[in-house]
Amino acid sequence: MNHPAMQGLNLNTPSYVKNARLIAWVADMAALCKPDNVYWCDGSDAEYQRLCQQLVDAGTFKKLNEAKRPNSFLACSDPSDVARVEDRTYICSADKENAGPTNNWMAPDEMRSTLQPLFDGCMKGRTMYVVPFSMGPLGSHIAHIGIELTDSAYVAVNQKIMTRMGKAVFDVLGVDGAFVPCVHTVGAPLAEGQKDVTWPCNKTKYIVHYPETREIWSYGSGYGGNALLGKKCFALRIASNMGRDQGWLAEHMLILGVTNPQGKKYHVAAAFPSACGKTNFSMLVPPAGFDGWKVTTIGDDIAWIKPHADGKMYAINPEAGYFGVAPGTNFHTNPNCMASLDKNVIFTNVALTDDGDVWWEGMEKDGGSLPAHLIDWQGKDWTPQIAKETGAKAAHPNARFTVAAINNPALDPEWDNPDGVAIDAFIFGGRRSTTVPLVTEARSWMEGVYMAATMGSETTAAAVGQMGVVRRDPFAMLPFCGYNMSDYFQHWLDMERKLESLGHTLPKIFCVNWFRKDEAGKFVWPGYGENMRVLKWMIDRLEDQAKGQDTIFGIAPQYAEINWTGLDFSAQQFNTVTSIDKAAWTEELKLHTDLFKQLEHHLPKELGETKAAIERRLAA
Ligand code: GTP
Ligand code: SPV
Ligand code: MN
Repeated sequence: MNHPAMQGLNLNTPSYVKNARLIAWVADMAALCKPDNVYWCDGSDAEYQRLCQQLVDAGTFKKLNEAKRPNSFLACSDPSDVARVEDRTYICSADKENAGPTNNWMAPDEMRSTLQPLFDGCMKGRTMYVVPFSMGPLGSHIAHIGIELTDSAYVAVNQKIMTRMGKAVFDVLGVDGAFVPCVHTVGAPLAEGQKDVTWPCNKTKYIVHYPETREIWSYGSGYGGNALLGKKCFALRIASNMGRDQGWLAEHMLILGVTNPQGKKYHVAAAFPSACGKTNFSMLVPPAGFDGWKVTTIGDDIAWIKPHADGKMYAINPEAGYFGVAPGTNFHTNPNCMASLDKNVIFTNVALTDDGDVWWEGMEKDGGSLPAHLIDWQGKDWTPQIAKETGAKAAHPNARFTVAAINNPALDPEWDNPDGVAIDAFIFGGRRSTTVPLVTEARSWMEGVYMAATMGSETTAAAVGQMGVVRRDPFAMLPFCGYNMSDYFQHWLDMERKLESLGHTLPKIFCVNWFRKDEAGKFVWPGYGENMRVLKWMIDRLEDQAKGQDTIFGIAPQYAEINWTGLDFSAQQFNTVTSIDKAAWTEELKLHTDLFKQLEHHLPKELGETKAAIERRLAA
């Protein structure tokens, strides 16, 4: 209690916390934010239950029917706080060039003076939770520690599921271990006697990263990646900076294991933009015709990938849970996910059924019909009639579930291995109703980096803004790369030389698009479990079992090379999802030109050369 502003506030520092830098930082932040209390999370189950009950009492959580959905809760956010806010997200590097043209930037000093008055007293009337967490298995050489200070109990309980959270982190931290300081406030201080709302937040929002000092400051939102700071802020934006400095990769990728009937196992990492199918693909159930094949989940959203002395790239999932998209999930599209959600779940912004369970759009495919009545995510009555008349959604399109990885029946036995799994293939894929074929394989690492760098995708509800507009989303990292995008491309290119010098074959790189539509606007490719057919072709390519055919944009499968057992999909339909339209590609390449113009500073010249080669093929 040596801080003048701390008079009367007990920091409650547990005796087992010995890290001097941490203790001093908590004191400084408490002095700035002026909470009524400081509470250090221990990560125990008892604590989780207590905080959940507190959220129920406050009206933030609704406890779901214990018989139908044991130990599960529903939170409904303020309608203004439903997704990541990309236009309020900043990379405050000392040098503007280091943030690059794809990130919002402000000089660190200027941002600090902007945030100072906002954070001053921002936690008045609230508790400041000290949330210790490890990204990656506790104590692993690959893991990194963060401490999140937050005035949201909702964030604290979500972090318990999403990360390895609890007092064991302090043992790893010791007296002088390093951690990433993450400060989060909903930005809604309470005056003396003021009644709280169920989802406090602020119209003003700032999601701020200081890459040099590896700090995160988040103001005004309680939702998802804005508030669960271990996820996008730390494991992608800050970690991508660590990876650049230390020679590894932090990626917006799922990681899966796929085992063939002979028992041979491959590992695949796939980058799709937000709400474009990572969780789904990572839990894929092989369809009829794939007896003996098995897909297992290592991660559903983020991968940390490190080159190893044996020349292979090893990937871990830094998270411990899934914060996944609910709408569209059902027993047909993702049975493993549905099974994961049967207990111990926090749902956010889905609808409530009359018997105290949850519902979202897409579930009607399981039940066969729409429920007669629901309470929608905004607390209003919902009926099929109302939906028809007004278009009202029962669940918000970015409604999510938070669930522990150990709930997943398809969880890979290696998911927690601190050494990670060796990656055999990378996949990049956007959401494109036209132009981009179902699957192609890059002819070289360089061509693969080109495909990833120029990837386009239609925007989704995962971020605030207009939906369905095609934008370039390089490596599915547009909102998550914490430094200059062109330098990031170079970092990927450098991996080739690095790994080749170690004498190992590099992972193959594939480009996919599950989302081509027909003239009637319907998806042509059945997707979901049927994506196994494409995955199998990729493995055939790894095993040299499929010849493929050359296209302007990589090697594509021949119709006969895909296992069609159990699926009625004609050569004609196959052509609809794989055809490469020259006129469309001429237009597409103009968008690549625009991107390269935008990223001109430090853009690796090899990307321009690869583009020229594609243009030559197109003209031939
Ligand atoms: P983030 O958590 O935002 O990073 O998303 P994600 O990439 O994990 O996406 P997710 O798997 O949750 O899927 C998002 C939406 O895409 C859901 O509504 C799915 O039903 C839908 N989707 C997933 N896979 C497919 C597919 O193969 N085909 C089609 N048509 N839709 C899909
Ligand atoms: C995404 O938007 O890519 C997500 C959800 O995975 S959030 O954690 O909110 O960023
Ligand atoms: Mn994501």
